[in-house]
Amino acid sequence: MSVGIDEISFYTSNYFLDLKTLAEVQGTDPEKYYTGIGQEKMGMAAPDEDIVTMAASAALPLIERAGPDAVSTLMFATETGIDQSKAAGIYVHRLLGLNANCRVVELKQACYSATAALQMACALVARKPDTKVLVIASDIARYDLDTPGEATQGCGAVAMLVSANPRLVSIDPEVGNYTEDVMDFWRPNYRSTALVDGKYSTKIYLKALKKAWDNFSTVSGYGFGDFSRFCYHLPFSRMAQKAHQQLVRHTKAGLSADEQEAQISDTLLYNRIIGNSYTASMYIGLTSLLENTIEDLSGQRIGFFSYGSGCVGEFFSGTVVAGYREALHLQRHRDLLAARREISHDEYLQLYRHPVPTDGGEHRFEEGTTGHFRLAGISHHKREYIPR
Ligand code: CAA
Repeated sequence: MSVGIDEISFYTSNYFLDLKTLAEVQGTDPEKYYTGIGQEKMGMAAPDEDIVTMAASAALPLIERAGPDAVSTLMFATETGIDQSKAAGIYVHRLLGLNANCRVVELKQACYSATAALQMACALVARKPDTKVLVIASDIARYDLDTPGEATQGCGAVAMLVSANPRLVSIDPEVGNYTEDVMDFWRPNYRSTALVDGKYSTKIYLKALKKAWDNFSTVSGYGFGDFSRFCYHLPFSRMAQKAHQQLVRHTKAGLSADEQEAQISDTLLYNRIIGNSYTASMYIGLTSLLENTIEDLSGQRIGFFSYGSGCVGEFFSGTVVAGYREALHLQRHRDLLAARREISHDEYLQLYRHPVPTDGGEHRFEEGTTGHFRLAGISHHKREYIPR
């Protein structure tokens, strides 16, 4: 019996800022963003959109197909937590009408926690193959204005149904891990934006990749040549290109630049126009690979490198299942991306500065999101989510 990802669906906000606009206001060459960091657009959430509404919108198509009683556990991975105590997934559980006997939990370790959730979901399903686990990763990436991180913001959520004999990707049990206590990127509880030592974070990412790969190849016995494609954590798409170049060098794989690029280019397409979605980003990259690769990937092995600052890195692998195209949500994703509205720099600043009420009063939010769910308001410190 194999275990893995049976279905995958993502969602992002209906607004985006083109990085050309940001570059113009900053007096920066737009090519620094388009080519230098490999990003074109970044998603901006409406005031009535947050990790819960994005998560529920991402998962809705899976629940519509599988039915609300199919899921025994919902795991919600995020580093944009909205409450220090209550799991964001409980709101999603209600919005999706999931069974009261379904357990819900939230996980955190920067951008890595969706991978922890996926691995734990696989373990749960392996123990009880007749169950399905819903893994959701949802994040809004926010940095201070006028910092190098500003152009790498974004937002998005991805939902994955994990089951026995999955229709998309079976996940191998072997993993390679690397953990080290470092301060490359973090967000103290009292801040709404992340703090980051940008250049250092990219160095630590690459170090964690090497260490996690070494551990993975020892444990699994797999070599670089066993993989046809690679999905990397995607803070910005150039990071994946640098990571892959390094892995090719490290493993002495001896590929040409074009051959290297062909192994990752289809994973980058969605993220280039969504921006960083932290926990969701590698899995939106996987969706991009499955939905945009012309060649039939059936039977091909994919290498995954998941990275969460602070830091944990994990290298793992999976094999694409024959007939996977039947289970994709390709048209829905294309429609979602095509329907987004470009915003001006002023609108971007308004969204960025939209205040989060903390006074315990009655606050209603104007309708901005075009998703299936919205945050209608916050009243007496309670968030009110409704279908739209
Ligand atoms: N045309 C083409 N390329 C240009 C250019 C131009 N006009 N101007 C600059 N560039 C190139 C530079 O040469 C550079 O390329 P290399 O990296 O290949 O040298 C690239 O554009 C970026 O330029 P800078 O190095 O000057 O960029 P910066 O210092 O202003 O910002 C950054 C880069 C530090 C990564 C910044 O975007 C940042 O802080 N981002 C947030 C942190 C981050 O994403 N870290 C990633 C690892 S941590 C992680 O993965 C977890 C997570 O999700 C946050």
